[in-house]
Amino acid sequence: MTDSTSASASASLPRRIDFQKDLDGKKTDLYVLKNTSGVTVAITSYGGRIVSWLVPDKNGRMVDVTLGYNSLDEYLNNNESYFGTLVGRYGNRIAKGKFTLDGKTHTLPINNGPNSLHGGKKGFNARVWDARSIDDRTLELTYVSADGEEGYPGKLTTTVVYTLSDDNSLKIDYTATTDKPTVVNLTNHAYFNLNGEGSGPIADHRLMIAADRYTPVDETLIPTGELAPVEGTPFDFRKPTPIGERADADHPQIKHGGGYDHNFVLNGGQTATPRRIATVESPQTGIVMDVSTTEPGVQFYGGNFLDGSQKGKSGNAYEKRSAFCLETQHFPDSPNQPGFPSTVLRPGQTYKTTTIYTFSTK
Ligand code: BGC
Repeated sequence: MTDSTSASASASLPRRIDFQKDLDGKKTDLYVLKNTSGVTVAITSYGGRIVSWLVPDKNGRMVDVTLGYNSLDEYLNNNESYFGTLVGRYGNRIAKGKFTLDGKTHTLPINNGPNSLHGGKKGFNARVWDARSIDDRTLELTYVSADGEEGYPGKLTTTVVYTLSDDNSLKIDYTATTDKPTVVNLTNHAYFNLNGEGSGPIADHRLMIAADRYTPVDETLIPTGELAPVEGTPFDFRKPTPIGERADADHPQIKHGGGYDHNFVLNGGQTATPRRIATVESPQTGIVMDVSTTEPGVQFYGGNFLDGSQKGKSGNAYEKRSAFCLETQHFPDSPNQPGFPSTVLRPGQTYKTTTIYTFSTK
């Protein structure tokens, strides 16, 4: 067991040179955003991944709160956990890798049980994005996905802008346009441990999610279509509750997910401007993370599939439930669920969402 002190001691940045490589005919690199209070976010153009995220704890020590690796080679060797990455063209699952749009059925690669997950076998997480440093706080990433790539129709041009502010927030603005009707659901897959990456369980973290309902799933984690009330279930996070308290509760949905791996229906639906939808706090470090988004949903994934086989930046193994993700999104399998908010994007329209992670201490 490491405590927050040793987690803090490991809070240094990976070396840029270990992210500079020729890949798919492009050059990858590492970009560092830093604000006046020393909050530092390192991002690689490979997958647009957040590699490190250093924030102060209640004693002013810098803690790296996100899981990841020290080199591009390690990311190339393990793409399955989606550490810190941008996810597309469609984040989360599409049932049996099939959907029908305007009367035409499209077939996607199956890479998660019987389903297609996170954009297929080589999603946006495994692509080299074109990076442009706008200033020392702002990084713009662009990826052009060809018509038919991973089975999706339409050439999709996606731009993601990461902006770090002096209020210790990282804003992620996503935009996309297409030349044919398609489906889009973009997110970031950062894994957080507010005691420091590699520092053990997140069971003590207190989580609030502003959602009266969630989308129950079948045993392959595809939504049934129902929007079920959280009231009286282990999914009621409307008041801050330790993540570990009900993670093994005797509830069929907890069994399907092997713990928490569910989409929450955020109160207020999709919004024009981001509003706060979740807060997580660590009693140990006093680090508080607020999540704001324009999206109608968030996948709360409790790190159930981490199994200790991967060693992260600090050299410590990433054990089961030693991190959590809050992936802001449209609901899983929306292309097959007429009752869910639409993920269809048509030529002439611009896909536009914003998510903000803000850190403070208490
Ligand atoms: C999914 C999990 C999956 C993880 C890593 C999450 O978005 O919901 O089931 O294991 O991503 O792929």
